[in-house]
Amino acid sequence: MKYILVTGSTGDLGSCICEQLALREDYHLLLLVRAQSLNKVRFVVDSLEMRGRKIDSLRSVKSRVTVFCGDIRRENFGLKVGEYSRLVNLVDEVYHAAAEIGFNLTLEEVRNTNVGGCENIVAFIKDSNKVSKLHYISTTFVLGDSEKTLAENSLDLGQRFNNSYERSKYEAEKYLSRSLSGDANIFRTSILTGKFEDGSIKNFKLLYEAMRLFSRGVVEIFPGSKRVRHNIIPVDIAAMAIVLIAESKCEPSTYHIISPNTVNCYDLLKNAAKYFGYCNPRWIKPSEFKSRRISSIQRRIIEPFVPFFSYKGRYSADYTEKILKDLGFAIPKVGVDYVNRLFQYMNKVGYIKKKHSLS
Ligand SMILES: NC(=O)c1ccc[n+]([C@@H]2O[C@H](COP(=O)([O-])OP(=O)(O)OC[C@H]3O[C@@H](n4cnc5c(N)ncnc54)[C@H](OP(=O)(O)O)[C@@H]3O)[C@@H](O)[C@H]2O)c1
Repeated sequence: MKYILVTGSTGDLGSCICEQLALREDYHLLLLVRAQSLNKVRFVVDSLEMRGRKIDSLRSVKSRVTVFCGDIRRENFGLKVGEYSRLVNLVDEVYHAAAEIGFNLTLEEVRNTNVGGCENIVAFIKDSNKVSKLHYISTTFVLGDSEKTLAENSLDLGQRFNNSYERSKYEAEKYLSRSLSGDANIFRTSILTGKFEDGSIKNFKLLYEAMRLFSRGVVEIFPGSKRVRHNIIPVDIAAMAIVLIAESKCEPSTYHIISPNTVNCYDLLKNAAKYFGYCNPRWIKPSEFKSRRISSIQRRIIEPFVPFFSYKGRYSADYTEKILKDLGFAIPKVGVDYVNRLFQYMNKVGYIKKKHSLS
């Protein structure tokens, strides 16, 4: 049996990674979960079990999952001595997906989780003489405000950061390469969106939050470029690619888990407004926006989203594409049908409700 520690299993990507790993009968998953999220992890484990049952002859998933109640910010994850040494002696491999994602948190808050969490994971690996691989989930947003193209083998491009989240993920990568001398897989994913087949997602973030904000008519004007493009990737597809590479014989490296195409954000927002029946704010140039009068509350609400809609960064994924191709996997393009499935799911769960037409 191979024992795999997963952090962030109650989150979107972590739970999809667990779905992939649970398909292997010779894997036992050890999930590190915060006390406040023990209810959430029960749902995750139940859904792993249900998926498993659909596959004939797959040995019960539940019997291959153990939950540890801990917090990545704390030394030894806050586990009791006995529990920590049990974990240290068990684990063969680590997927570290837990992170604080919010764009409007203080640097201290995100550093504690995103950098401090990595420090505790590295300490854990050093305490163990068994862990052979670390798979760390990063983000293409380590590129910050740079307008250059981020390649898998680059990190320092003279960037400054649009928010504390980006900075903390950059610092975490720096820390990992210093402390493990490149001996870990780093998976930089682009923006994670709903699952490919049904658009479902657990935590609505970033692009979703922007759509909801606009649907509520909080602002009449918004500073952004109509040409802004972003790379979005279905979260389950990202997890498949990550696990496939992680399980391959490839040397530890940095990978870009991104879609082969980008989406124009202005068009996406326009389609969302049409689908749900609301009016987007009028898009104006960022340079014109500075002189516009909007209330300080409005400014505070929209501020975290502003850099996102004037973004000029680009990523290349030549190395990752080659590796995935060799492994027989291609990340699908994201098209209009997929984006509609995202809207349908948001409507279904009431994240944004479609307005009924009177006619
Ligand atoms: N979302 C994106 O668009 C995106 C894009 C690029 C990269 N990424 C990266 O992908 C990874 C997963 O993101 P996601 O979208 O799946 O995030 P998510 O849905 O917000 O999940 C975050 C996970 O981290 C856990 N966590 C947070 N703080 C923790 C702590 N102190 N101790 C233990 N667990 C903690 C959360 O647990 P609780 O349930 O207790 O909150 C949750 O399971 C992150 O590393 C993120 O930086 C995300």
